[in-house]
Amino acid sequence: MARLELDGKTYELPVVVGSEGERAIDISSLRKDSGYITLDESYGNTGSCISNITFIDGEKGILRYRGIPIEELAEKSSFVEAAYLLIWGKLPTTEELSTFSALLTKHEMLHEDMRFHFEGFPPNAHPMAILSSMINATGCFYPQVLGDGHEQFLMQAARLISQVRTIAAFSYRKSLGLPNIYPKPTYKYTANLLHMMFSEPYQDFELLPEIVQALDLIFLLHADHEQNCSTATVRIVASSKANLFASAAAGVCALWGPLHGGANQAVLEMLEQIHQSGDNGSKFIEQAKVKNSGKRLMGFGHRVYKNYDPRARIIKKKCDQLLAALSKKDPLLDIAKRLEEAALSDSYFTERKLYPNVDFYSGIIMRAIGIPINMFTVMFAIGRMPGWIANFKEILESLDGHISRPRQIYNGPQDNHYIPIGKRK
Ligand SMILES: CC(C)(COP(=O)(O)OP(=O)(O)OC[C@H]1O[C@@H](n2cnc3c(N)ncnc32)[C@H](O)[C@@H]1OP(=O)(O)O)[C@@H](O)C(=O)NCCC(=O)NCCS
Repeated sequence: MARLELDGKTYELPVVVGSEGERAIDISSLRKDSGYITLDESYGNTGSCISNITFIDGEKGILRYRGIPIEELAEKSSFVEAAYLLIWGKLPTTEELSTFSALLTKHEMLHEDMRFHFEGFPPNAHPMAILSSMINATGCFYPQVLGDGHEQFLMQAARLISQVRTIAAFSYRKSLGLPNIYPKPTYKYTANLLHMMFSEPYQDFELLPEIVQALDLIFLLHADHEQNCSTATVRIVASSKANLFASAAAGVCALWGPLHGGANQAVLEMLEQIHQSGDNGSKFIEQAKVKNSGKRLMGFGHRVYKNYDPRARIIKKKCDQLLAALSKKDPLLDIAKRLEEAALSDSYFTERKLYPNVDFYSGIIMRAIGIPINMFTVMFAIGRMPGWIANFKEILESLDGHISRPRQIYNGPQDNHYIPIGKRK
């Protein structure tokens, strides 16, 4: 119990301890008992749920999906297997994995009428706008989205994970005015996405294993990250009993912003800008340290990690491996490494515990693969889909079933009155 003294009274508040020893004070009865609410703008100190899915220790730089370290999964698993793990809470058996893979293949095609929806977007529409709209539109074609039971949920989860990839590829083709390439049932998840994006009706894209594996790794590393902005959004929307597709579409919108998923696009734009200006990075670093300069070192800093993001470490290594395998050199990688070195020896960044995050190097891998910058955040959304689905499932199965609805402290005008329009100044 924690004790809180307020207005001469003592309130006892239960302390909740998680399986990794994280501690929270349960204030859910505080307002009823005392009339007070807690205030925590942007939720830096607020636990919004008890979850069994993903554990992060931001101080130590630890990330685990269902208890398994991200480093182990990155080395031994695949995106599809990690998706199963996140959603169902355990690693699949051979049979379960093949059933899940078969469902992904079965549901990879969009409803044919969805083709016409793509035609309504202007050619320069951002693919994240198309993605969120089309995921929501998919819900219209499968209104039985909240069917009961394991089989139903498995099918809807597989449909969403599979179709988000087809939508992404079609929106990319649409932005270039190219014909859609339909998925091939013989290809595995990530290879099929690359095929749909880059093959032509007259020539298949060469699926180099190094490229397929690097993109699969990016998806796996993005698959969940506990209560970030988009996942918290998905949970809030799901708590109103909105369907899986609507909740995921809301997640895509939240992910789009440059302070969240949009950061991978912003990192590459920043690196290109530095490259073109001839700066070796030092000028940019100085600007990023000035509060109102409008510049930040994108790909640096994290709400939770106050240490090196473990995903950034894995991606940085993969970046070097992929460029070597493709015999490519990328000046942006050199700039990124210089920026990292400079920032990590600069007290502004070290004192604030600002380290590279997952977005700092992922863009260089995607660029090496040939994925255009405006598709980077879409790749993040594809990767994050299993995490959103797992969180949606937790809400669906939660026993209390309450709608998420924060409170506020009102600080606006008091005792105000309506003035007829002709008398207003
Ligand atoms: C991720 C991010 C939004 C976290 O924000 P946060 O937890 O709210 O932290 P704050 O914005 O309060 O930052 C804390 C301090 O570090 C500074 N800071 C944070 N990130 C910075 C960055 N990337 N470059 C320069 N300064 C940064 C802030 O200006 C603030 O300085 P102050 O204490 O002097 O006011 C923030 O670090 C950021 O904008 N990073 C760049 C975008 C990015 O890479 N996002 C992807 C996240 S996976």
